[in-house]
Amino acid sequence: MSTIDTAQAAEVARAVALLRAGELVGMPTETVYGLAADASNPAAVARIFAAKGRPADHPVIVHLPDATDMSSQLSRWAREIPPAAQALAAAFWPGPLTLILKRQPDVSDLITGGQDTVGLRVPAHPLAQALLKTIGSGLAAPSANRFGRISPTTAAHVRDELGPAVAMVLDGGPCPVGIESTIVDLSGDAPRILRPGRISAAQVAAIVGPLGDHSRQGTGATPRVSGSLEAHYAPRTPMQLCAGQAFVDALAGIHIDERVGVLSMRSSPDDPRFVWRMMPGEAAPYATALYAALRALDDAGCDRLIVDAPPQEPVWLAVNDRLRRAATGAGDMTD
Ligand code: TXA
Ligand code: MG
Repeated sequence: MSTIDTAQAAEVARAVALLRAGELVGMPTETVYGLAADASNPAAVARIFAAKGRPADHPVIVHLPDATDMSSQLSRWAREIPPAAQALAAAFWPGPLTLILKRQPDVSDLITGGQDTVGLRVPAHPLAQALLKTIGSGLAAPSANRFGRISPTTAAHVRDELGPAVAMVLDGGPCPVGIESTIVDLSGDAPRILRPGRISAAQVAAIVGPLGDHSRQGTGATPRVSGSLEAHYAPRTPMQLCAGQAFVDALAGIHIDERVGVLSMRSSPDDPRFVWRMMPGEAAPYATALYAALRALDDAGCDRLIVDAPPQEPVWLAVNDRLRRAATGAGDMTD
């Protein structure tokens, strides 16, 4: 973990004071910015839901400091912790991985969404680590966006998204991973991936063995993972996801007076109707750039967005997952 400078340490101290007073703080992590509240203060956690416009049955992740004794840290929040949890924590924490474990009875229903489980993560970002170490307890933090919208990957995105609802945004620069953590559910019979992320299913399986089928989750009335709603991570502008020739055809079909935002790994044609964002050709840097690019296109006053779908390959799974959900929810102003 890299260290922080004096000015950053002062900002961290200010953030800690606000969190202890029950305020919300925008927290940089390596994945996306979180909207943090003291996890042991139910009134503060309740403010997260109000600020995001998020339904109360959606659980939030508790972020923990990097501890030398991780098992006693985990048992403050979780019970019946399986060996797979220790193994994944040892392999990937601090880092972009969230573990779902059976909860301790005293963990607030606001945090768990009334479920018998709790989501835990040790983020790697040096400012998040400094914040967590100083406050010495858990911070409840969902992504710092309005419910259903694009997750923020810079401090400015958080301010634009949430305005005065957040007392302070700790500026840790752009998030290096750029998409939300991989979520692994260890509360059932076999480990299951609930949300794909930078840490792949293959990397998880290499530590814990075969994974359970995740396609069956999310069919009940209450989603276990809010990111599992089909419409999520969405821009306000209508958005189409087109693969290969369909992308070429979609561009050929736009009207003479249309203004169209395009996300593509190909370079821009010389055509003033396009607001063109050329994306990196590899999955990890593409993910890092994705949300800022979608946000910029969404703010560019386009009639619609057309996204050139990346390949259907395992390495692109998390990016394709976010793009599919963004296209499903785009233009929907009802949530
Ligand atoms: O990378 C991340 O995970 C970011 C940063 C800020 O850490 N956080 C994040 O939080 O993406 P959020 O709330 O936007 O998404 C967390 C997901 C939600 O879909 C929530 O439903 C799920 O984790 N989750 C949290 N606790 C859970 C639980 N006990 N059981 C099942 N899903 C849970
Ligand atoms: Mg979120």
